[in-house]
Amino acid sequence: MVRLGRRVADLVAAHLARVRDEPVQHPIGRREARDLAALPAVAPEAGAPFDGIVATLQARVFPYHAREPHPRFMGYVPSAPTFPAVLGDWIATGYNFFAGVWSVAAGPNEVELTVLEWFRGWLGLPDGTRGLLTSGGSNATLTAVVAARHAALGDRAEDLPRLAMYCSGQAHSSVARAAWIAGVPRANVRLVPSDDRFRLRPDALAAAIARDRAAGLVPFLIVGNAGATNTGAVDPLHAMADIAARERLWYHVDAAYAGFAALTDRGRALLAGIERADSVTLDPHKWLYVPFECGCLLARDPKALEAAFHVLPDYLRDVEARDQDVNFADAGEQLTRYSRALKVWVSVNYFGLAAIRGAIAECMRLADVAERLVREAPDLEVLSPAQFGVVCFRVHPPGTDDPAALDALNERVNAAANATQRVLMSSTRLRGAYSLRLCILNYRTTEDDVRAVIELVRASA
Ligand SMILES: Cc1ncc(COP(=O)(O)O)c(C=O)c1O
Repeated sequence: MVRLGRRVADLVAAHLARVRDEPVQHPIGRREARDLAALPAVAPEAGAPFDGIVATLQARVFPYHAREPHPRFMGYVPSAPTFPAVLGDWIATGYNFFAGVWSVAAGPNEVELTVLEWFRGWLGLPDGTRGLLTSGGSNATLTAVVAARHAALGDRAEDLPRLAMYCSGQAHSSVARAAWIAGVPRANVRLVPSDDRFRLRPDALAAAIARDRAAGLVPFLIVGNAGATNTGAVDPLHAMADIAARERLWYHVDAAYAGFAALTDRGRALLAGIERADSVTLDPHKWLYVPFECGCLLARDPKALEAAFHVLPDYLRDVEARDQDVNFADAGEQLTRYSRALKVWVSVNYFGLAAIRGAIAECMRLADVAERLVREAPDLEVLSPAQFGVVCFRVHPPGTDDPAALDALNERVNAAANATQRVLMSSTRLRGAYSLRLCILNYRTTEDDVRAVIELVRASA
């Protein structure tokens, strides 16, 4: 075990040590992957030495992936885990703690409660707020939607078709998907218009709720963005909290990646009002530098989670939560779950909050730098300014103003820049216009990287 473990530690450390010099991405299709990896289709009857197994992975599997921890991985929402966080994950799986119920994993579960309490404090949510770590942001939001549905309807399934919920058109797709999974009709997920800075318009929200009530629907949930995926926009969190309170609706805030910016003064100011949410989605596998998978749901009233999820079959009566015990299986859909808390706890203890705060602040500064470089370039145009780590822009040569031509040009630029394998950037659409989008969340990224990527975009153009 020691020899095998050291082999893996050496392998991963060597990969991370040279990741900057590797291609950021190496996308290939399924057909090519099948040929290049050439993995035997049938599971072997006899075992084989570990070194050979690892060598096969190194030669035929690992080359074909995007290097998430690469400093120029700036597409989608990047994830750059710390090495201690990776080791924390390994410890959790090595021990194979069963973090679903209290009685068999009191120690690791105490770590999860500690981590949840950290997050609560960072966001300024009230004492008593609790929740659980999840596979990701999507599952956290689904958990919230199910809890909100249960709070609204209990077991009155016959009223499901009348449920209505509200988020901005800029909400992450996981919000609408959570609604559908929870039984809310697709047609009743209201995408409320946003303003010129991509923030939900409270007047439109109030009007949509009034319209639905008049039509006999049952509004039950408002979801706010605290760092929208497209642009980093933060919805008017206080105004939405006021509407939720007045209308007696559950108020969920999706702070999947931007929530950890609350560790910085600048981020905390941007997130003001998040503390009024009934529940919040966070994603430590984004800006808290832990490896996939780690999301989090915080709920102001943990009993509302239990009301929705608690079940007690005969074969689990032995592990029923007693006294102050917390069975995380009672707060979400997973019974068997591993201790995701360990990777968070190990990494935060190893580096300390000052280092993590500094890394987050630096990413925000680098997004500002990217915005400035775009503004300074005569052939580039900002489409949405830097917010948290995100900036959206496009190539816009003077004199080229046809929207379709600009879209086509930027689509080609995105493809050409990515084809160099020296960056991974992604695109989106803002008010219909094709936009290039950089998301800078990696503690390895430097100002030189940002300059190089902007230059690469201009050269591609
Ligand atoms: C704002 C926001 N919410 C939710 C999600 C979904 O999180 P996950 O991919 O961890 O399920 C994302 C992912 O990028 C996101 O940016």
